[in-house]
Amino acid sequence: MADVQKTFIMVKPDGVRRRLVGEVVSRIEAKGYDITEMKRFTIDQALAEEHYGEHKERPFFGELVNFITSGPVVAMVVEGPDAIAGMRQIMGATDPIEAAPGSIRGDFASFISENIVHGSDSPASAEREIGLFFAR
Ligand code: RTP
Ligand code: MG
Repeated sequence: MADVQKTFIMVKPDGVRRRLVGEVVSRIEAKGYDITEMKRFTIDQALAEEHYGEHKERPFFGELVNFITSGPVVAMVVEGPDAIAGMRQIMGATDPIEAAPGSIRGDFASFISENIVHGSDSPASAEREIGLFFAR
């Protein structure tokens, strides 16, 4: 039996600006996953730096933080069988040039810095990111 997992998914500011929230939500539901938490808000500098902490030394870090704080996001907890890897598949490769047609990034993005969605890349990341965005 597949492992039922929770993963952290976020429609990034470009996806919200382009009104792709419904498109992303409907693909998640069509796959058979549940959206168990969802909120729209604008990420502040501190949360952005913490969320992308693994990329702190990368040359694109400043651009990444500016972009992710540039407008509202829609953050979600998505739950289902093998949802962490399954969502990465629905999203497609990080660079839209490599993302398969039929994936969210393959169908809607053309540029690595504006690739519509974020999804946790491992069980440890999922736990950390859900804690960061949905701790109460
Ligand atoms: P994400 O964290 O946003 O879900 O994306 P990811 O796991 O597929 O990719 P990751 O390696 O974690 O990179 C985070 C985000 O940084 C931007 N990026 N820009 N300019 C560049 O070379 C570059 N490389 C990565 C992308 O927007 C990527 O989603
Ligand atoms: Mg990542």
